[in-house]
Amino acid sequence: IASQNTTQESFLHCLSHHHPLPTYTPNTTSYNTLLNSTFHNLRFATSASAAEPVLIIAPADEAQAQASVACARAHRLNVRIRSGGHDYEGLSYRTLSDRPFAILDLSNLREIDVDVENGFAWVQSGAILGELYYKVAQASKTHGFPAGLCPTIGVGGHLSGGGFGTMLRQQGIAADHVIDARVIDARGRILDRASMGEDLFWAIRGGGGASFCVIISYKVFPVPPTVTVFTINRTLAQGATRLVHKWQTVAPRLDRRLFVRTLLSGSGAAAFNSMFLGAREELMRIMDQRFPELGLKAEDCFEMSWIESAVYFAVSKIGQPTEVLLDRSLSTYPAFKAKSDFVREPIPEEVLEAIFGWLKGKTVVMLMDPWGGRMDDVSESEIPFPHRAGNLYNIQYYDYMASSKGHVEWLRRFYEYMGAYVSKGPRRAYLNYRDLDLGWNEEGNETSFEEGEVWGRKYFVGNYERLALVKGVVDPGNFFRNEQSIPPLIVKG
Ligand code: FDA
Repeated sequence: IASQNTTQESFLHCLSHHHPLPTYTPNTTSYNTLLNSTFHNLRFATSASAAEPVLIIAPADEAQAQASVACARAHRLNVRIRSGGHDYEGLSYRTLSDRPFAILDLSNLREIDVDVENGFAWVQSGAILGELYYKVAQASKTHGFPAGLCPTIGVGGHLSGGGFGTMLRQQGIAADHVIDARVIDARGRILDRASMGEDLFWAIRGGGGASFCVIISYKVFPVPPTVTVFTINRTLAQGATRLVHKWQTVAPRLDRRLFVRTLLSGSGAAAFNSMFLGAREELMRIMDQRFPELGLKAEDCFEMSWIESAVYFAVSKIGQPTEVLLDRSLSTYPAFKAKSDFVREPIPEEVLEAIFGWLKGKTVVMLMDPWGGRMDDVSESEIPFPHRAGNLYNIQYYDYMASSKGHVEWLRRFYEYMGAYVSKGPRRAYLNYRDLDLGWNEEGNETSFEEGEVWGRKYFVGNYERLALVKGVVDPGNFFRNEQSIPPLIVKG
């Protein structure tokens, strides 16, 4: 405790040279409110083992964020960077180590500047996706941004780890659309793309920002003024198993403007949930030709603007005001645990039947997002996010009542069962669906390149080594670290 106090005091003393800088200690009134402000997984709100941060720093501008990094480094205080707080394992606001740490909360850095004429936007990390979508749509009816479905996700974590949503098949992932970034490096310098160099710029587009530095900007892409959405449910009695079996080979090969995902649930049903970047008539034509078994009818389909579709996917209702996208408390999240996979060969129908059996009565949803289209055009090493051609779809296994050990253990058993039917060598996983079961850096978050490979290859496949080499150059002292940060690989001589 004595050394903890000394670290904290010397850090605060260092920061006092940059007064006024908003810092909150456990004795400050707003500490708890701020700590819990973006707690998006209640599994950690109740966890007795979670150590609390000795400080929360909430910089109001870049210079204050810069001072925080410089002081933390000088006084060896571990810092967790938090933008939207959606990390599945809570790594932006908790640690498994008992060493003191601080949260660098970027929620005040949320400016968005859309330049429609030149086709890009600068957006600060603390902005949420809903704010970005709303601002883009206000500036132009023919632009959108291809990122995730949940509007409260923070831009900083989402884009630095990949980020995909309903435009995935036409536009790829959010990180593919980053054309410049402003970051604070381990030496406390503010750098942009030109000054950080292409290696670091490559690493922060899918490699997870928290291993390297902070802050980002993005380009927006045109979408047609009208899109069409539908959600239809099919029960087992209505042939859900057969439909999901067919979906596996059809959905990744459809017109790339069409995204049809499916969600399997414990109630014995599959929901088919879709967005088409075009009008209803054309959508009906494509579906009649390619997937007539689904039985889509014109009255299932709703035409709307792209921004209205963002609202539709956020709240699962039609006709809600677009301002709901600005509501940072829109979603309350349960205590959840999730895992992910990529599927490269269709799963046999009898196995899908068994999967429905596993899910029966459980609080688990299996979300299956189709790949293909633009994802096949980009090479695995273009950015650190490697999951491209060859994958049919991504699976997320999501238990929304995972507060008890029994639920988490069941999910692990189910994941083990699924191992025979998904990608292998390595079994791939999506960084933004973070899963500490894959492995983590123990004690003080120090680990070697070889130890990190266990989980690093699953997230990054062949890009893991380059990420470790970049880390070895930009942060050899491993200042930016957490339970799944990239270990530095230092080449001698
Ligand atoms: P958070 O602030 O927790 O950060 C996540 C990680 O990034 C942490 O390690 C953090 O330290 C680091 N980080 C954050 N900001 C940084 C910065 N500025 N610089 C450096 N490092 C930084 N994903 C998806 O692709 N599509 C989807 O549709 C969804 N949907 C979805 C719904 C819900 C309810 C949840 C909880 C999550 C998703 N996700 C998702 C996953 C989401 O993309 C992922 O959790 C992101 O990392 C969240 O980013 P935040 O900034 O909110 O998280």
